[in-house]
Amino acid sequence: MAKLGLNIDHVATVRQARGGIEPDPVAAAAIGELAGAEGITIHLREDRRHIQDRDLEILRKTVKTKLNLEMAATQEMVRIALTVKPEQVTLVPEKRRELTTEGGLDVIINLKTITDAVKRLRDGGICVSLFIDPNQEQVKAANKSGADYIEIHTGAYAESFGTPDMGRELEKIDTAIKLAAKVGLGVNAGHGLNYVNIKPVAAIGGIEEYNIGHSIISRAVLVGLDRAVRDMVDLIKYA
Ligand code: PXP
Repeated sequence: MAKLGLNIDHVATVRQARGGIEPDPVAAAAIGELAGAEGITIHLREDRRHIQDRDLEILRKTVKTKLNLEMAATQEMVRIALTVKPEQVTLVPEKRRELTTEGGLDVIINLKTITDAVKRLRDGGICVSLFIDPNQEQVKAANKSGADYIEIHTGAYAESFGTPDMGRELEKIDTAIKLAAKVGLGVNAGHGLNYVNIKPVAAIGGIEEYNIGHSIISRAVLVGLDRAVRDMVDLIKYA
């Protein structure tokens, strides 16, 4: 049965908008786990624009399911991961000016750097996943690097949803899953998945974990707003 890995970066983004202490991603992680998420995913970016080192340290102590740390394959990040020891690291490409992770890792071109990072992390007892586009050559390179999993970047599929390209994008995902299974890599998937486009991907099968953030946090804002407004109205009225 496939699992949900809840990405809580956006909770930290809202907190950082005021530079204060709320909403706390640690509380969001606990609520997510109580609701059935089987993993908590955070991206510690080089510029610390949302998740902070403090979040990672506390979440390491409080997450009861699986902590998946997304990070760039840099010396600094590998050192942090080896100190904090999340159950899983997902290596992602990182560009300073991007709004979010834009594309998959180019494992072919960066094979040496990635292989070195994978080895150091695995030697430290951490399971390693590589975030790649659904491309057969990238799957083969991921296998060469010694990684345990790939996370298929579903962004292109999400963008193609409802267009004539959608079938082709789903086929690419299907082919990548089959090749990964053949060479013995586990398969996760994520990026741009929402309450509508999840269904055709989930129907393919073969994906162990979906890492989803934006659509869940967006929905939380809307489904939670009614209660939040009522709570404040009561406080004002009955003060
Ligand atoms: N997987 C990876 C590797 C990501 O970088 C992200 C975005 O941070 C996600 C999954 C989740 O994407 P979304 O927020 O669009 O659900």
